[in-house]
Amino acid sequence: MATEEENVGNTKRQLAKLFEVSLRRIVPDEPDVEPVIAACTGKFGDYQCNNAMGLWSKVKGKGSEFRGPPSVGQAIMKNLPGSEIIESCSVAGPGFVNVVLSKKWLAKVSQYETLPKYLYYIVFVILNFLVFGSLALKITFDFGWGTSVSSWSNTLACTRNALTLWSIQKMLTDGIDKWAPQLPIKRAVVDFSSPNIAKEMHVGHLRSTIIGDTLARILEFSNVEVLRRNHVGDWGTQFGMLIEFLFEKFPNIEDVNETAIGDLQAFYKSSKQRFDDDPAFKERAQRAVVSLQGGEPRYRNAWLKICEISRKEFHKVYERLGVHLEEKGESFYNPYIPGVLKELSDKGLIEDSQGARVIFLEGFNIPLIVVKSDGGFNYASTDLAALWYRLNEEKADWIIYVTDVGQQQHFNMFFEAAKRAGWLPTDGALKPKVTHVGFGLVLGEDGKRFRTRSSEVVRLVDLLDEAKDRSKKVLVERGWTEQELNQIAEAVGYGAVKYADLKNNRLTNYTFDFDQMLSDKGNTAVYLLYAHARICSIIRKSGKNIEELKKTGEIVLDHDGERELGLHLLQFSENVEETCTNLLPNVLCEYLYNLSEVFTKKFYSNCQVVGSPEETSRLLLCEATAIVMRKCFNLLGIEPVYKI
Ligand code: ARG
Repeated sequence: MATEEENVGNTKRQLAKLFEVSLRRIVPDEPDVEPVIAACTGKFGDYQCNNAMGLWSKVKGKGSEFRGPPSVGQAIMKNLPGSEIIESCSVAGPGFVNVVLSKKWLAKVSQYETLPKYLYYIVFVILNFLVFGSLALKITFDFGWGTSVSSWSNTLACTRNALTLWSIQKMLTDGIDKWAPQLPIKRAVVDFSSPNIAKEMHVGHLRSTIIGDTLARILEFSNVEVLRRNHVGDWGTQFGMLIEFLFEKFPNIEDVNETAIGDLQAFYKSSKQRFDDDPAFKERAQRAVVSLQGGEPRYRNAWLKICEISRKEFHKVYERLGVHLEEKGESFYNPYIPGVLKELSDKGLIEDSQGARVIFLEGFNIPLIVVKSDGGFNYASTDLAALWYRLNEEKADWIIYVTDVGQQQHFNMFFEAAKRAGWLPTDGALKPKVTHVGFGLVLGEDGKRFRTRSSEVVRLVDLLDEAKDRSKKVLVERGWTEQELNQIAEAVGYGAVKYADLKNNRLTNYTFDFDQMLSDKGNTAVYLLYAHARICSIIRKSGKNIEELKKTGEIVLDHDGERELGLHLLQFSENVEETCTNLLPNVLCEYLYNLSEVFTKKFYSNCQVVGSPEETSRLLLCEATAIVMRKCFNLLGIEPVYKI
């Protein structure tokens, strides 16, 4: 009997297994070719296999029997092992193999097949008798797991849709957590946001915060324990300068607070100026570093004050965005560095080079510096110690770092060093694994790095407040109470900023444009939030108790629009899984946008809901769509809106 785990949401993976068999048969010499399966957008099938073209470019000219991508497609199709999943296949265009899911297989996970075989048989015989005896009878079976199968003939007619139907109904009664993908990961560290103390938290950190939070949410949903880490830059030689400047300005450290210091970035700038201009100050600053690192209380206190002030500013951003992180800054790992470097040294990895201690790595033309020529530790030494800690103390099996692509080389280098140290597998084993999630720049409307008009770094709190204010202005016209207005303006404003970032492939640069992100047309958060609110209002206006309908009603997917919506809803799980495995939030955004398009254009414009004979089923489909949309919003860190 098919189990839920095997079937729900895993159609794609099951198809991949079949196509893998076929690929091994037709190109046994290409064992690395993985099946590429995608949900279909056309009307020729439900899924398609996209391997033909890639495979053709691999095998052409090697004396293979193929004449081009279509013939590769034909071969893939013909060599598929017999399976109950597939009803029919066809090859289209340059070799795409389209698959229509089999009625029989879909039926297998429908309700009545989950009954013991003999019971199914008895029911079948009785029903045949009833149906063929022309008894107009509507029979409802309720087998106690929340769903009911009513009307035998109806059920027979839609066996093809049974998987969709069954799973959606089950999701409605049991909750969407049932659709969470299963990942082979127990505990992950997501290292994100990570601004630097006393320096500006810039749009790059905003991207890291938004992307990292989404990835953490998706992993958490997939039952992975996530350690959300803020690796703040709270250590380093700049603190000598800051502390010394602080002592100059505030001989009594008790006087130091946020208002007294004012803008910490300006404070940083002035202390830097002082450092560059006055050699005596510079010397004192360098001594201050030693005192701080030696743990002298006066210096440590001053350092704590500076960190505290910065932290308050960072928190204003996190609060607005609804992001939670646990700070374990660079300073936390400092005590671990000597031990870690000793281990690497004992393993013969570290060498002297021009007064510094470095690791030479194959494939890189510069070495990884782990001790500077002045004897100090740096970004790389801290990251090596942090990685050691995360692997050995925190026992994470996936460590994800979210920073701009500019830091890619740093990550590749210390990942390579960790492999050479034997901390990470080199034999193809999948765990523990480390991934650098890089992202592109945020550009202004002029196509250059995003700055204020006076070409200053944009203060993130101001940016978010502007997003809220702008969305508030549009909403004012709709006559809300002040409280509603604020709540919705925040949901829409912050949601718009997040979505505008997440909907692009993270590696590409994107242009920050308030007008575009706050438009209620096109692929924007505003459009999606409104679409969701409209679905909620359809349900509200029906006057039906949707919770009751969930218990007693039945979903039927007879109309093409209904079937398409149903199939799309069911594909939620595989899209979340793909987002997770490739760490690409844009995949989930695309899914969400398409869902709202399918709902509006395929379902709602063709299938009357309220007042139709199919009202119950269609209201349940509306509810399922709203639930899936809300889960997507939740995973993207966006607050849903219920009324517009
Ligand atoms: N503080 C760094 C920056 O602002 C980002 C830290 C990223 N995390 C890490 N483990 N290196 O660029």
